Amino acid sequence: MTTLGIIGAGHIGSQIARKAVQLGYDVVISNSRGPETLADLVAELGPRSRAATAAEAAAAGDVVVVTVPFKSYRQIPAEPLAGKVVIDTNNYYWERDGHVPALDRGEATTSGLLQEHLPGAMVAKGFNHIYAAQITADGTPAGTPNRRALATASDHSEASALVARLYDEFGFDTVNIGPLSESWRVERDRPAYVVRQNAAELAANLARAPRTI
Ligand SMILES: NC(=O)c1ccc[n+]([C@@H]2O[C@H](COP(=O)([O-])OP(=O)(O)OC[C@H]3O[C@@H](n4cnc5c(N)ncnc54)[C@H](OP(=O)(O)O)[C@@H]3O)[C@@H](O)[C@H]2O)c1
Repeated sequence: MTTLGIIGAGHIGSQIARKAVQLGYDVVISNSRGPETLADLVAELGPRSRAATAAEAAAAGDVVVVTVPFKSYRQIPAEPLAGKVVIDTNNYYWERDGHVPALDRGEATTSGLLQEHLPGAMVAKGFNHIYAAQITADGTPAGTPNRRALATASDHSEASALVARLYDEFGFDTVNIGPLSESWRVERDRPAYVVRQNAAELAANLARAPRTI
C-alpha cells in the first residue's frame, strides 16, 4: 500500500491523513463539498497529499478509508472500490443519522451495511472507537508496555490483516473481533467504545458487550 484514499475530511479523516503522511504514505482526500474546500488541509499536509472528489479518492487509493457520518454511507461510490480494502470508521448515532430499525433491533451492524453497499470491496471496521485527536497522540512503538489496542472486524482476512498492519504503524495493537456480524461489540455505548485499553482489556471489554443497548 502506498496511497491511502480518504472519503471524509472531518475530525477522523484529517487525523488519519496527518498520521499517514507522517508515515510516508501518499494521501488523496475528499469531502462532500469539493476539493477546492480542502485547500487549507492539503497545504498543511504537504506534497504527499492532494484533494479530490470522493470518486477520485476511491479510485486513487490502494486502500480507502470511509469516514463520513453514517447517514451518508449510501453515497459512497461502489464501482471504484471494487476489489479494494475499505476501512470503515463509522458509528451510528440515531440522533444524527436518523433511526435505522435493523440497527436499533440489533439485527445489523454499521460496517455490515457498508459491506452490503460495497459488495465488491473488502470492508474492515477500523478507528471507530478512538477519539480523533488521539489517533496522532496515543500511538507508541510495538512492545511498549500497556500499548493501546484498537479493534477491527471483517469478512475478509486480507482486510483485517491490513488494518492490523496499519494500526501497528500508527502505534496501536490490534484485537480482531472476527466477522462483521460481530462488529457490534465495538459499536457505540459498549464497554470498549472510546476508552483507552490495552489488548487484554479490549478483548475482555469486547467479550462482555451486550448485543443491544
Ligand atoms: N469524531 C470522532 O472522534 C470519531 C471517532 C470515531 C469514529 N467517528 C465516526 O467516524 C465518522 C466520521 O466522523 P467525523 O467526526 O470525522 O465527522 P465530521 O467531522 O462531521 O466529518 C465528516 C466528513 O465527511 C464528509 N462527507 C459527508 N458526506 C460525504 C459524502 N457523501 N462524500 C464524501 N464526503 C462526505 C464531510 O464533508 P463536508 O464537510 O464537505 O460535508 C466531512 O468532511 C462518523 O461516523 C463518526 O461517528 C468519529
